[in-house]
Amino acid sequence: MRLKHVPGAEEAVADSPFVIGDETTHKGQWRAVFPEADPQAELYAELGCGKGQFLVQLAEAHPERLYLGVEMYSSVLLRAVEKQEEKNLPNLRFLRMDATYLTDVFAPGELSGIYCNFSDPWPKDRHAKRRLTSRQFLARYEQVLAPGAEVVFKTDNQGLFDFSLEEAEAAGWAVTHVTRDLHADAEAVKDNVMTEYEQKFAAEGVPICRLIMHPEH
Ligand SMILES: C[S@@+](CC[C@H](N)C(=O)[O-])C[C@H]1O[C@@H](n2cnc3c(N)ncnc32)[C@H](O)[C@@H]1O
Repeated sequence: MRLKHVPGAEEAVADSPFVIGDETTHKGQWRAVFPEADPQAELYAELGCGKGQFLVQLAEAHPERLYLGVEMYSSVLLRAVEKQEEKNLPNLRFLRMDATYLTDVFAPGELSGIYCNFSDPWPKDRHAKRRLTSRQFLARYEQVLAPGAEVVFKTDNQGLFDFSLEEAEAAGWAVTHVTRDLHADAEAVKDNVMTEYEQKFAAEGVPICRLIMHPEH
């Protein structure tokens, strides 16, 4: 995706109380980052959360759950932080980091679920391992997900969707839900929360693919 330089974004993100710095120090204790939370609350992460629309809506809809938005770029994350500044949701925080390092940041079994929404496709074969649904990423997710916890992946990109299904099979994951036109499926779309990218593609009539999968622990 094209990145706009936003002057001051890095400092604003680093200084925000909604962005958790020194993320490796919370490994195994992420629930304590949310002072009002039930220590047993479910904890979900969206990887590549972009401007945060999805997580803000989800956190509002499920105040009993905890949400972490992981985003690599301050210029994008700043928009998510600004949304959260308006809402001040107690169950939503952000991490400015590369999801590649997920296992340095989360303890085994610490996450109740992972969302990957409209992840970058990395079209060149030699970059396949950077795709958030590559077998390399699935191996990382397997380490940090609780038993039975799922990865939910949405994309407009059919090639990336095919690749993700192949990677799930190669990794021995169970795929429990597949649709290539989420918005045409009344049952599947019922609880769907739209992301910024999804809203744009759906408005253009582009079908949205979704799969749900989990490691066979
Ligand atoms: C195409 S955008 C989608 C944003 C949002 N999820 C949506 O659906 O509207 C993908 C986002 O993922 C972020 N991203 C890509 N690879 C990442 C990684 N390895 N770790 C963290 N963020 C990543 C990008 O910076 C970008 O903001």
